[in-house]
Amino acid sequence: MARVFIISNRVAMPDSGLHAGGLEVVLKATLKNHPCVWMGWSGETRPQPRVRTLHKGSNTYIVSDLTEEDFDEYYNGFANRVLWPILHYRLDLAEFSRRDLSGYLRVNEHFADELAKVLKPDDVVWVHDYHLIPLAKALRERNLQNRVGFFLHIPMPPPEIITAMPNHERLIPSLCHYDLVGFQTDNDAANFARYLANELGTPAHISRRLGTGERVMRIGTFPVGIEPRGFARLARRAVKSELVRKVIKSIPGTLMIGVDRLDYSKGIALRLEAYERFLAANPAWHGKITYLQITPKSRSQIKEYSEMEGAVNATAGRINGTFSDASWTPMRYVNRPYSRTALSGLYRGARVALVTPLRDGMNLVAKEYVAAQDAADPGVLILSRFAGAAAEFREGALLVNPYDPDAVAAAIASAMAMPLAERKSRHNALFAALLRNDISKWGDKFLSALMGTKEFQLKDGAPASRTKFQDISTRH
Ligand code: G6P
Repeated sequence: MARVFIISNRVAMPDSGLHAGGLEVVLKATLKNHPCVWMGWSGETRPQPRVRTLHKGSNTYIVSDLTEEDFDEYYNGFANRVLWPILHYRLDLAEFSRRDLSGYLRVNEHFADELAKVLKPDDVVWVHDYHLIPLAKALRERNLQNRVGFFLHIPMPPPEIITAMPNHERLIPSLCHYDLVGFQTDNDAANFARYLANELGTPAHISRRLGTGERVMRIGTFPVGIEPRGFARLARRAVKSELVRKVIKSIPGTLMIGVDRLDYSKGIALRLEAYERFLAANPAWHGKITYLQITPKSRSQIKEYSEMEGAVNATAGRINGTFSDASWTPMRYVNRPYSRTALSGLYRGARVALVTPLRDGMNLVAKEYVAAQDAADPGVLILSRFAGAAAEFREGALLVNPYDPDAVAAAIASAMAMPLAERKSRHNALFAALLRNDISKWGDKFLSALMGTKEFQLKDGAPASRTKFQDISTRH
């Protein structure tokens, strides 16, 4: 049986304390259904990087250290100070340096070398996210002809934005070395197709495989989901846990929740401003609402992140300073992380969730909040129209423009006052959308599209996916 090689910057390696956040959850079924080799960064830096291998069940984990220089140039530098802001439409925050680009390419070459040592001809390779865009090109340069797919977990902006990235022509076209490039939404896929049409002159219509010498790259949409029923079970149990009961008990009135990594793409400062306007315009809610914003720190070595931390702290302090009285604090701003289980219980206990990123590939907090609700008395999801999840949640969520604090404040007011019948019908629509896109099928959908073979057909015999494909022939 062909092995599936999963390559990503972070790896969740069993019994090692290494975690990979959301990636761990979305790859769970793939790791269970296929013999997999998961390769990536060990999370450590050393002058002489080591490569460690662990076998667990039918899976293998291979992690490599990076040098301090690699970490600075590849992770902090090109991946997180150039690609992350630009792919989130934030040209203003991108800081390009040639040294970082060469560090980024060097680390990709390093992973290609490690892969070349262990890949067999029928192994399938699945590369994840913006850290590893040029990996397929590096593999082809080593004469490896395996099926190689790529999935971008974050947004793909329109070509007008990507082309502002210095050296984009060295990087973005290298995606054509993959057999399949997957995106979260049709909009992301269309932006990429338009980049290829504008910059490389590839046909923007569906073409056919043209024989040897020419690689056919397929573009598809594979929105990441969750396991709604499993998450609902978790939330039902967690809401009874001591921690969640203690939090809920300590809150006077109604709980509104936000959960995000401390990242400028999440729009936390603007969201806090919206809450401030809501409080100013709705004195009747004073003393009756508490907004809990859980925001674990992230990428703190990067200047833009530490600056934003200061701005968010200041706004949270101002809100509490302005509106608190001796018996009520309008918001709790918490920087420590909570377990997925604890979060599921808090979601269930919250009447409103504020998920207002300025731009987001998908946003699983929105999906998990919906899954965690009590269908008999559900809460309301306020969701940014610029989160990938908005494409599936048009019916049911209160969609907002996160750049408009007055509109978000009005959405908070209407969520707080929403009658039970409307909350139920919205939740019904949202839950149905979750069920249509259960994550347990996601990996096999991608892999069957990548392979086009029976081996990766879904177990229930359903067609590979309803994904709309665009096949692009490129000479690379
Ligand atoms: C996003 C990215 C992931 C990344 C995660 C956490 O979700 O799509 O690739 O792992 O953020 O960021 P970090 O830099 O801590 O890995």
